Amino acid sequence: TGAVGVVSLSMAACGGGSSSGEASGGGGEQTVFKLAFNQTEEHPQYHAGEELGKRLEEATDGRYSIKVYPNEQLGGQSDVIQNLANGTVELMWVGGPVLESYNEDFVVYNLPYVFDSYESQMAILQDEELNDDLFHSIEDKGITVLAGVHAGIRNIYNSKRPVTTPDDMAGLKIRVQQSDSQVKMIELMGGVASPMNLGEVYSALQTGVLDGAENNEPTYDAIKHDEVAKYYSYTKHLMIPDYLLVSTKALEGMDEADREAFLALIPEIQELASSEFLDYAEESKQHAEELGAQFNDAGAAAFKEKLTPMVEEYMSANEARQTIYAAIKEANQANPA
Ligand code: GCU
Repeated sequence: TGAVGVVSLSMAACGGGSSSGEASGGGGEQTVFKLAFNQTEEHPQYHAGEELGKRLEEATDGRYSIKVYPNEQLGGQSDVIQNLANGTVELMWVGGPVLESYNEDFVVYNLPYVFDSYESQMAILQDEELNDDLFHSIEDKGITVLAGVHAGIRNIYNSKRPVTTPDDMAGLKIRVQQSDSQVKMIELMGGVASPMNLGEVYSALQTGVLDGAENNEPTYDAIKHDEVAKYYSYTKHLMIPDYLLVSTKALEGMDEADREAFLALIPEIQELASSEFLDYAEESKQHAEELGAQFNDAGAAAFKEKLTPMVEEYMSANEARQTIYAAIKEANQANPA
């Protein structure tokens, strides 16, 4: 694949005109940004990506649009992000832990039992001043973070037994997202951690290479992990945001007015992707139950106790993290569970 896809401006984009596909007034070309996504067309982040494309096309008089590629068509997140960094993919949704290999400070939002509520997490993610340094910290590597969104609450699931205490985790091989913090977390919870891209997990569960994984209800159901790991246990250990990323190169390649118009759309898209998630999680749980998945409460308190020292250690590592941790505590107080 080459650079940004450039095609003739379509009739739809310029509101009718000649049938040749040329723009009738002014003769422009349309730049189509590729947006890489690792899940299905039912997911709120897919809808939000499509919506961003529509609004961008309007706001730039058809000069820009977006094509969303779902289901890891462009690869798993840890591979796609390299293409985004070098500018061959312009946009992607990514899970927080993947960003830790570009700047470890992203870990602050990926630690267990950090956010007490959806509202608390949103207050933090929408605080532009708080996130300014962090979100622009990896532009020298080609990556601009546009926004963080709510992406559910993650719980443990496996094919062997319901998990209710850390002891139940003994010997269970659990897939995690690719970062040291996620590996360490599962070890402290009592299991054996195995980092990999999401798309590899189903067959690893099926063949018994993995006993389980940890994720929110929509991913558990939509990627069909509920077919091969039927015990879903509410440890509620993580509320990790996903991020919308843009290739810094692509962003800098836009005219200033188009770039401003694009950036102005981001808060609406952040809100859309986040708020839609709540109903989606509920529907996904119901669907998984119909398929025979068994949901149970796990004593979150026992897991939390094991994980607190890890959280304190990561959060106190430098001033940037301390500042964010203090803000999270305030947001939790203002928005309790
Ligand atoms: C969630 C998250 C994704 C992430 C996935 C994973 O579904 O929304 O961004 O890739 O978890 O566990 O890999």
